[in-house]
Amino acid sequence: MAAANQGAHDAHATAARAEARWAWIVGAIILFLTGMVAYMSIHWALMPPTRMETIDPATLHLSGEFVESNLGTAREADGSVTVRLLASQYAFTPQCLLVPKDTPVRIRATSSDVVHGFSVAHTNVNMMLAPGYISNFATRFKDSGEFLMPCHEFCGIGHAAMWARVKVVEQNEFARAMAANGRASCVAR
Ligand code: CUA
Repeated sequence: MAAANQGAHDAHATAARAEARWAWIVGAIILFLTGMVAYMSIHWALMPPTRMETIDPATLHLSGEFVESNLGTAREADGSVTVRLLASQYAFTPQCLLVPKDTPVRIRATSSDVVHGFSVAHTNVNMMLAPGYISNFATRFKDSGEFLMPCHEFCGIGHAAMWARVKVVEQNEFARAMAANGRASCVAR
């Protein structure tokens, strides 16, 4: 009878030790995660808001970078290209972006009304376009072809119909399109 009591006592002590050990491990994990959140919050709060560019959505069609004649693809001095586009309920301007293959592409875009989503199917291009801010995305298209560019943020009744296309072409074909005029797009004229 005494031996049985002793056995039960040992089992209880072992369970208590295991519980205490796991309590410490769980506590350590919680502390680690809390510490990480605190560190990241403070770290980012102390950083200047770089790459944050603002623009007045009420006047962007009148002057500045996003006037209609400046939209589309432009060639930079270093050989890269910059694509500028504007999102509004419920269309992207231009409706078709023309970009060269295997070339650094900088996309600059904004919205004239509400928040829109911007992504290019089968690529890593994905960002939000918010009124008042210029969104930036640097990429390089490896495959030529046509890609869908849907708005992926619900922006109102016409959201589902809001999409455009990206046409990635060989560099010589792009050069020909650029020679025709200063801004390239593949919108059918
Ligand atoms: Cu624009 Cu959804």
